[in-house]
Amino acid sequence: MKGIRKIGLITSGGDAPGMNAAIRAVARACAFYHIECFGFYRGYQGMIEGDYVPLSARSVKNIISKGGTILKSARSTEFRTPEGRKKAYDHLKAAGIDAMILIGGDGTFNGGVVFHKEYQIPFIGIPGTIDNDIAGTNFTIGYDTALNTVVECIDKIRDTASSHNRLFFVEVMGRDAGFIALNAGVGAGAEEILIPEEDLGLDRLLESLKKSKRSGKTSSIVVVSEGDKIGKNVFELADYVKDNLPEYEARVSVLGHMQRGGSPTCFDRVLASRLGVKAVESLLDGETNVMVGTVNNEIVVTDIENAIKRPHDINRELLRISDILSV
Ligand code: F6P
Repeated sequence: MKGIRKIGLITSGGDAPGMNAAIRAVARACAFYHIECFGFYRGYQGMIEGDYVPLSARSVKNIISKGGTILKSARSTEFRTPEGRKKAYDHLKAAGIDAMILIGGDGTFNGGVVFHKEYQIPFIGIPGTIDNDIAGTNFTIGYDTALNTVVECIDKIRDTASSHNRLFFVEVMGRDAGFIALNAGVGAGAEEILIPEEDLGLDRLLESLKKSKRSGKTSSIVVVSEGDKIGKNVFELADYVKDNLPEYEARVSVLGHMQRGGSPTCFDRVLASRLGVKAVESLLDGETNVMVGTVNNEIVVTDIENAIKRPHDINRELLRISDILSV
């Protein structure tokens, strides 16, 4: 134990199902190792305002199954300023916090790196985002739950699409990454999947839809990642297809923030539990500027700058599988 007696914890950036399970795991691991744990509200903003609460083992009871985050979340613009970070540091010092655990995505981790450069407070990152766009871990907390939510929604959309012989464009989340679109698209049997990592082009989309008609398909689903780089948003895309293929009756469904809510799957709860315990143990082992993650079902610790800078590659094999199966 490298003199760490008090750990601060935040959830920051877009919330993700399983963040509560991670909070519980951190608080309980702290109790197990006789460390005090404090949760700061609304991510970095709570650090700036000195808005925090002690997290005892009992205070995190019954939250493992709950979506969202009891600590709330935010994307603090004030923390981007040196003045904001100074206020945060002053509050951490006043509270006697020795180290921080940051649950969030790349924006959260970037904040941790900058803060550490200025004030040398040790920190560990836990990847929590539905986008799964962090290198150094196969899965981020919340991604599995979001995938299941999306597949359930597309199954329902398929019922109505098929009843009306319609083509549906379903937009899913993923600001810069196509993990949700690609995996939910294959899981829900989509005709085409448009992701930011692969610009298939408009011509190829039209060709594919023409082929579907010829092959006797009466309804189809196209899954579009919100970060797709085809050059049109999902509504423009649907209009473009209607203009070029008038035989199609097209509709758009944007799934939106429902993808971030809901009770976490068992997978996300177990992942969050493992990563939360490992984060506390890593701090006690003297680690800093690292992220805990899971690779091939083993818990691993990665340099945080690698996790932020390296791209988390999608599985291109899934695009091929999708092509074959939409024959
Ligand atoms: O949490 C990641 C994410 O869900 C992205 O997929 C999406 O682009 C973004 O958050 C939306 O965030 P908000 O509406 O909270 O600003």
